[in-house]
Amino acid sequence: MRCLMVLSLSLFLQEGQSDLLRDSVHVTSAAARPNNELWCYKCLAEVPEDKCADLRHNNSALIHKCHNDRRMCMVKRFSFTTSNENATTALKMWALERNCTKHCEPGCIVIGERTKLYACTSCCTTSLCNYGSGANGQFFNNVVILVGFISLSLYL
Ligand SMILES: *[C@@H]1O[C@H](CO)[C@@H](O)[C@H](O)[C@H]1NC(C)=O
Ligand SMILES: *[C@@H]1O[C@H](CO)[C@@H](O)[C@H](O)[C@H]1NC(C)=O
Ligand SMILES: *[C@@H]1O[C@H](CO)[C@@H](O)[C@H](O)[C@H]1NC(C)=O
Repeated sequence: MRCLMVLSLSLFLQEGQSDLLRDSVHVTSAAARPNNELWCYKCLAEVPEDKCADLRHNNSALIHKCHNDRRMCMVKRFSFTTSNENATTALKMWALERNCTKHCEPGCIVIGERTKLYACTSCCTTSLCNYGSGANGQFFNNVVILVGFISLSLYL
């Protein structure tokens, strides 16, 4: 358990450091940036049936212009599994957000043991690129890597 906490802590610290790095780069280059011409899907789904979670239908109402330094589109998906000694349930979504964003850190953060919470983010930089479900190959690879690290640190 302690290993797990140290691990999550170091993950958050790493994220913080890269944010700091990017901030300093950002400040120096902001003046040289062209106008923000990016458009992203922007919405929040709290049930999987929401049209925000599944963009195959008419979704023109969800398209928004990005402003200022928000030069990336993102999808953030929150989901969970529960397990007992015999089985683990399939991944269930409980929220999904699409938005313009200034900082975007792709990948997943996983917390919990019997009930595992997953917060997975994907990022992209072209207009209307954030149509995905947030549950793509990269998502699963990252989860596998993270779970691998956690088991390793528990084992050591
Ligand atoms: C999008 O981001 C803005 C700024 O962070 C926030 O105020 C807004 O609530 C977000 N929209 C959605 C749908 O989550
Ligand atoms: C899609 O929805 C928008 C408003 O939400 C509407 O103005 C437009 O006509 C719709 N397009 C189609 C093809 O249904
Ligand atoms: C797990 O499986 C065992 C053996 O099949 C069963 O006796 C037990 O009740 C199960 N536990 C749960 C929480 O389902």
